[in-house]
Amino acid sequence: MDKKCFYLRTFGCQMNIRDSEVIAGLLTAGGYRITDEPDEADVIILNTCSVRQHAEDKVWSQVNNLSKLRITKDGHTPLIGIVGCMAQNHKERIFERAPQVDFVVGPSDIQRIPEIIKKLSTIDHRLSAHGFLEKKIWETDGGVRPEEIYHTGFYGDKEHAYVVISEGCSNFCSYCVVPYVRGTPRNRNYKDITREIEEALDKGITRFTLLGQNVNAYQCDGVDFTKLVSLVNSVKGLKEFTFLTSHPKDTTISLFKAMADNDKLRKDLHLPIQSGSDRILEMMNRGYNRKFYLDLTDNYRRIVKGGTLTTDIILGFPTETESDFGDTYKLLENVRFNAAYIFKYSPRPNTAAAGLRDDVAKEEKEKRHALILELQRMISKSKK
Ligand code: SAH
Ligand code: SF4
Ligand code: F3S
Repeated sequence: MDKKCFYLRTFGCQMNIRDSEVIAGLLTAGGYRITDEPDEADVIILNTCSVRQHAEDKVWSQVNNLSKLRITKDGHTPLIGIVGCMAQNHKERIFERAPQVDFVVGPSDIQRIPEIIKKLSTIDHRLSAHGFLEKKIWETDGGVRPEEIYHTGFYGDKEHAYVVISEGCSNFCSYCVVPYVRGTPRNRNYKDITREIEEALDKGITRFTLLGQNVNAYQCDGVDFTKLVSLVNSVKGLKEFTFLTSHPKDTTISLFKAMADNDKLRKDLHLPIQSGSDRILEMMNRGYNRKFYLDLTDNYRRIVKGGTLTTDIILGFPTETESDFGDTYKLLENVRFNAAYIFKYSPRPNTAAAGLRDDVAKEEKEKRHALILELQRMISKSKK
């Protein structure tokens, strides 16, 4: 008989791209084949993102499309799973909103997906049409991921690989859902990280991106991020590597020196500022002010030569005035980033900012968004 196959679509950040490889690796090892065609799949998995309302809306609309597929499919009903950050954010409420979904698995339990699918496959699908609850398995409460899930050898790219160095975040920026869906920080052991890199090198991959919500806070048995970077730099056969994401409050001069000194480390830095207004930065609980950030970028440019500097901005955070917005605008003019990713604020459940009125009108957010985009477009163009 033909192998059973799965379709896997990824939403959200690089961390999710890597998680999808992990899931695909586990399923492939379990005898499944991957397909690009949801129509032929026995299992459809959406690995989701909750970071902004817009990200969730995209998933809900895909889920609705899948339900059509499910009804029209003759004699073949695929299992549908929502996994990742939205799974953790909504838990069993997903089944209420989308009864066609069969399983919901949060980011800390992705290793259980093969077992859950196996269990569900033994249940007669026709029962689900009548809404039998025992068909709904949701696992969203796990802690540390077992190390072996990072070693299945499944990679989506032939030359480049993402390597998770830490999972979770406890910075609790007041707008951000990530600490609630990804849990408290867990650092992987540096020996496991370099072992994973060596395994990928054996497959011909030579470029790497180290991943964490706040890589600069990495700590394991006396190895901090600066030390980790030099360990990775010394892995034989590795040609180039970089890292994502840095939090300004934990970014140090010693990291900049390490960026300058380690020959294989790219000189690029993604350093999200979020706002140029001290009042808004304080409300965001970012732990730095405008001056600290400007000094940091000055030091980066002084010590690390030849890299690109990029950032993230949120516009329309609650109470953001014209004058706060002006501060952000001026900061962009001052720093002259190579690129900026600009987002309109949307309230996220459980976060501190969700308790504030989302009082910047939609049209105003759009106006500010367009102004900043245009400014950054000019700056990016002039830097090319
Ligand atoms: N850990 C990383 C990435 C966080 S999510 C970091 O700290 O930088 C990526 C970006 O999404 C954030 O930098 C922020 O600009 C944006 N973002 C997060 N929550 C948001 C929200 N509620 N509304 C709009 N943008 C948001
Ligand atoms: Fe979210 Fe802040 Fe953590 Fe980044 S550092 S993931 S923005 S809470
Ligand atoms: Fe989204 Fe989760 Fe990444 S919320 S941005 S997929 S950590």
